[in-house]
Amino acid sequence: MFDAMHTPDNVLIVGGSSEIGIEIAKQLARRGSSKFLLAGRSLGAMQRAANEISSVSEHSSASVSVIYYDTVAPGSTTDLLNAAKAELDTIDMAVIAVGALGNQEEDEKDPASAQRVLEANFSSLAPDILAIANQMSEQGFGHILVLSSVAGIRVRASNYIYGAAKAGLDGFTMALGDAMVGSGVKVTVVRPGFVTTKMTAHMQPRPLSTSAHKVAAEALRAADHNKSAVYVPYAMGIAVSIYRHLPRSLARKIPF
Ligand SMILES: NC(=O)c1ccc[n+]([C@@H]2O[C@H](COP(=O)([O-])OP(=O)(O)OC[C@H]3O[C@@H](n4cnc5c(N)ncnc54)[C@H](OP(=O)(O)O)[C@@H]3O)[C@@H](O)[C@H]2O)c1
Repeated sequence: MFDAMHTPDNVLIVGGSSEIGIEIAKQLARRGSSKFLLAGRSLGAMQRAANEISSVSEHSSASVSVIYYDTVAPGSTTDLLNAAKAELDTIDMAVIAVGALGNQEEDEKDPASAQRVLEANFSSLAPDILAIANQMSEQGFGHILVLSSVAGIRVRASNYIYGAAKAGLDGFTMALGDAMVGSGVKVTVVRPGFVTTKMTAHMQPRPLSTSAHKVAAEALRAADHNKSAVYVPYAMGIAVSIYRHLPRSLARKIPF
């Protein structure tokens, strides 16, 4: 359930070793969320994060469990839902933080690698999100926070595999939010620009770069206000709304 400040009791982090996902969990633990399930591939990183999340609040200690989850593995949807029911009982909030940038240059030449990027970011992940939404609909309440990206708003040649997958995820989850109206289930789509996390550690920061802390805070603020979508930082939303309407011949010349 949620308290009067929209703080959930039970939280599922899908992509449990994500820096943004962990930061959202810490901020929720500080606000009073009491039970977390981290679902992801990197058990060591998730165990370390679990210790941090459980000791983040001075007043109480959250309980944090960890399960192995790979969205592209057969049976992952059922295993994820069963673990969530067993560990959390109700899924009050789910944070979808799975994401894989891939390596555009290599993936372009290897359709099997491109397929892995498309699956991890969208085609394998979407059924998991749907299963969570259906479970929340059955319980009559719940809030799903989905980490999309500005990369999916206007897909660029320099990262069109990741960008197209994020475009699919963004469209799917925005419409899922519409479809869930009246069920008690809310969906908030979060569209960060460049965030300095391990995902981008090999890249030069871009203009309007931001931090996992800021993305987490803005994502939770958007959820508190029941927004369907939010750009982080805010100025990125303005930049993207101009960029997405540029004629293609002009957009092509912008070097990023
Ligand atoms: N960082 C940015 O600039 C940026 C910008 C816009 C949007 N985003 C999005 O924000 C979200 C969180 O990213 P982050 O910055 O926190 O990066 P991150 O720390 O690298 O988190 C990405 C997470 O996705 C997990 N993952 C990848 N493939 C998976 C799979 N097949 N099954 C299960 N989990 C898988 C990773 O697990 P492992 O640790 O096991 O690899 C990791 O936990 C992602 O959706 C990302 O696309 C990030």
